[in-house]
Amino acid sequence: MSNKSIAISMEGKVALITGSARGLGAEIAKTLSRAGATIMITDILEDLGRSTVKEIEEAGGRAAFLPHNVTSEADWERVTAETVKQFGGLDVVINNAGIEICALFENTKVEDFQRILDINVTGVFLGLKHACKAMKPGGIAGSGGSIINLSSVAGLRGYAGLGAYCGSKGGVKLLTKAAAVEFASLKYGIRVNSIHPGLIPTNMGKSVLQGFVDAGLAPTAEKVSEAFERSTPLGMIGQPSDIANAALYLASDQSPWVTGAEIVVDGGTTAT
Ligand SMILES: NC(=O)c1ccc[n+]([C@@H]2O[C@H](COP(=O)([O-])OP(=O)(O)OC[C@H]3O[C@@H](n4cnc5c(N)ncnc54)[C@H](O)[C@@H]3O)[C@@H](O)[C@H]2O)c1
Repeated sequence: MSNKSIAISMEGKVALITGSARGLGAEIAKTLSRAGATIMITDILEDLGRSTVKEIEEAGGRAAFLPHNVTSEADWERVTAETVKQFGGLDVVINNAGIEICALFENTKVEDFQRILDINVTGVFLGLKHACKAMKPGGIAGSGGSIINLSSVAGLRGYAGLGAYCGSKGGVKLLTKAAAVEFASLKYGIRVNSIHPGLIPTNMGKSVLQGFVDAGLAPTAEKVSEAFERSTPLGMIGQPSDIANAALYLASDQSPWVTGAEIVVDGGTTAT
């Protein structure tokens, strides 16, 4: 067997990643940076966003931060324009920002349902719209590229206590496919794919565990974590790097014939 290795290169590419001050977004940013990409970190968490930029720079990468609420169209216009101005292009947009709400249907307030749709679905819709406008031929960046949307295993199947979240992530799955088909048929050179992570212990992952307890669906967060682990064929909880490596593949030129795909990274959970 050959011992030659293939490294995925992102040299010369510029990636904008929403909600990347922490969690999966920050891990994706660091992974793409190590592969050579220039990174625009955007988030509503400004201090944390700037410290993630510092970490990337200290590791020898190039990055900057812009404050960005993904539900604001004016913010999207500003961050896409500013990224192209600062870094000279835009090749990858990762719609990662998201929130979760854990509650039974009968206890979910309509305002909470609308809030999760606003951030998780409208945020991704605006990301698709403004990434497309910037990246398509004749746009301010104009050289096509890759858009990646963070859905979830909860966008593929139902979970008790996660009705609003499941609805929002199912929306992300089909927005992805519609955009993939449209941008391909218009010959924009823009691929669009979704990633569907299983449970990953970020701030969100940990708060989901407690959410099941608060919703009256489990006695303790530890019990929920054990149940997730038991129901995962590979027998362990995933790590942020599992998701970041999938994003690296989809962002890179190693996936030129992949569009409209749902990449499930869940240790086999949804295969059962
Ligand atoms: N962690 C998991 O188990 C898991 C599983 C499946 C899918 N996901 C998805 O992955 C993505 C990242 O999740 P995470 O685990 O890193 O969560 P996280 O809570 O650690 O990070 C989410 C980030 O999004 C930002 N954000 C929230 N609202 C925003 C807004 N309106 N505008 C801009 N930024 C905003 C937050 O400030 C935060 O930095 C989310 O879309 C989430 O639904 C996570």
